[in-house]
Amino acid sequence: MAPKVFVITYSVYGHVNKLASSVVKGLQKTGGVQVSQFQFPETLNSTILKAIHAAPKPDIPEITVDKLAEADGILFGFPTRYGNAPAQVRAFLDSTGGLFAKASLYGKAGGVFFSTASQHGGQEVTASSFMSNLVHQGMVYVPIGYKSPHLSDLSEIVGGSAWGAGTIAANDGSRQPSEKELAIAEFQGEEFAKVVKKLAGK
Ligand SMILES: Cc1cc2nc3c(=O)[nH]c(=O)nc-3n(C[C@H](O)[C@H](O)[C@H](O)COP(=O)(O)O)c2cc1C
Repeated sequence: MAPKVFVITYSVYGHVNKLASSVVKGLQKTGGVQVSQFQFPETLNSTILKAIHAAPKPDIPEITVDKLAEADGILFGFPTRYGNAPAQVRAFLDSTGGLFAKASLYGKAGGVFFSTASQHGGQEVTASSFMSNLVHQGMVYVPIGYKSPHLSDLSEIVGGSAWGAGTIAANDGSRQPSEKELAIAEFQGEEFAKVVKKLAGK
């Protein structure tokens, strides 16, 4: 059976979900993995979501702790919150103690992609501050390095880094993921699928 890759996102204004579509495209391009998309459970109520003009949630299932254990590789996508993962992501991960106790995620591949409002708003620190979640579960972090030429492109603003794909949303959320950022996200999906297959001995 093909190894399973889960792409799990949290997004308020849709930027991270747009990156996720390209990540999925890349995973499918490499092929040989079974790809499923999930979202982290929301903790904000509908009144608050309306007040902050949140985008409608995508039509994908919410991740559960039991489901998480089925994955062979997991790509986590989220916007920064002061250089950290959002509380919604962390609240879900705080409920994975049972998986930790059984080492259910041990040796599985993990990667991250992200969004910030500003160019220097913490893309890399958001990824690095998430690392202990992977490390303490014994997961194998899969970065993307600098193989994609778009990551070294200085001709325009390009989000993302060696740590993972990224986009820059602007303070009012008006900037959308650029072609280069989406290409990096697709590249991340392609490369991640290769590593998951290697880890699974496929
Ligand atoms: C509480 C809070 C903290 C934030 N902290 C930062 C930050 O430190 N740096 C930054 O560039 N953007 C910050 N943002 C902006 C979000 O990262 C931005 O809205 C997000 O990247 C958009 O992605 P999305 O459309 O997928 O939700 C913050 C937003 C909130 C609500």
